[in-house]
Amino acid sequence: MAKWKLLAKRALRSVGFPMHKLPLVRPPMLDYYELDSPLKDIYATISGRTVVDRERVMMLRQFARATLPLPGDVAEVGVYKGGTARLLAETLRGSGKSLLLFDTFSGMPQTSAGKDVHQAGDFGDTSLEQVTRFLGGCERVEFFPGLFPQTAQGLCERTFCMVHADVDIYSSTRACCEFFYPRLVGGGILVFDDYGYLSCPGVKSAADEFFAGKPETPVFLPTGQAFVVKHGSSRA
Ligand SMILES: C[S@@+](CC[C@H](N)C(=O)[O-])C[C@H]1O[C@@H](n2cnc3c(N)ncnc32)[C@H](O)[C@@H]1O
Repeated sequence: MAKWKLLAKRALRSVGFPMHKLPLVRPPMLDYYELDSPLKDIYATISGRTVVDRERVMMLRQFARATLPLPGDVAEVGVYKGGTARLLAETLRGSGKSLLLFDTFSGMPQTSAGKDVHQAGDFGDTSLEQVTRFLGGCERVEFFPGLFPQTAQGLCERTFCMVHADVDIYSSTRACCEFFYPRLVGGGILVFDDYGYLSCPGVKSAADEFFAGKPETPVFLPTGQAFVVKHGSSRA
C-alpha cells in the first residue's frame, strides 16, 4: 500500500473514524475490451441495436467463449433488434454451432400484474425483417418468430451449451428454465439478463423458484445478470 494511504488510515483511526465507512477504492484494473480486440468492433456494430450495456455484453461474450468447447448449440430468447444476437453469432463464427433466436419480433407478450413491471407491447419497435437483415452476414442462425415456448415445439431433441434468457418477465423466464434446463449439457451455462433489475422483478422470482429444488443456484453478478452452470460433465 502507498505510504500516504497508510499514514492517512493511521490518522483516521487515531481520531476514532469508523474505518468500515471508508469508500472502497479499487486498484486500477485491466479493461476486458483491450484484451479482446474483436469485441471492440462488435460492440461498435451492436451498441445502437441493444439495450444491454457494455459490461453485460462483456460477460455474455465470455460465457459464449467459455462454452465453445462443449457440445450443443446456443440460444437466445429475447432478441429485440438483434444486438446481443449479433454478438453471439460473431462469437460462434467458425465453431459449427447454430444460434437459435426466439422472439415475437413484435413486442412483449402478455405480462403478469403483480409480478412484472413491463407491459404487453413493450419493445414493439422492431421486426423479423429488420433483424434478419442485421444478421444477414452471420452463419448458422435460425429464427423462431412468435411466442416462446410454443415456437420451440419440434426442438425437443436439440441440446445447448449456452442460453441467453433476456425476456424481462416472469412467465417467459419460467418457460426458458423449463425448456432449456433439461436440454443444457453438463457445464453448459444459462444466463439471465436483468435478474437483479428492479424493473424486471419477475426474472428473479421465476429463476429462484425454478432452481429452488435443483442442485444449481443462480449466481448474481454485479452487472445485474445471473448465471447457472449445469452440473454434470459433457464430452465434445
Ligand atoms: C429486453 S428485450 C431483448 C433485448 C436484446 N437481447 C438486446 O440485445 O437488446 C426483451 C425481448 O423479449 C421478448 N420476449 C419476452 N417474452 C417472450 C416470449 N414468451 N416469446 C417471445 N419473445 C418474448 C420481447 O418481445 C422483447 O423483444
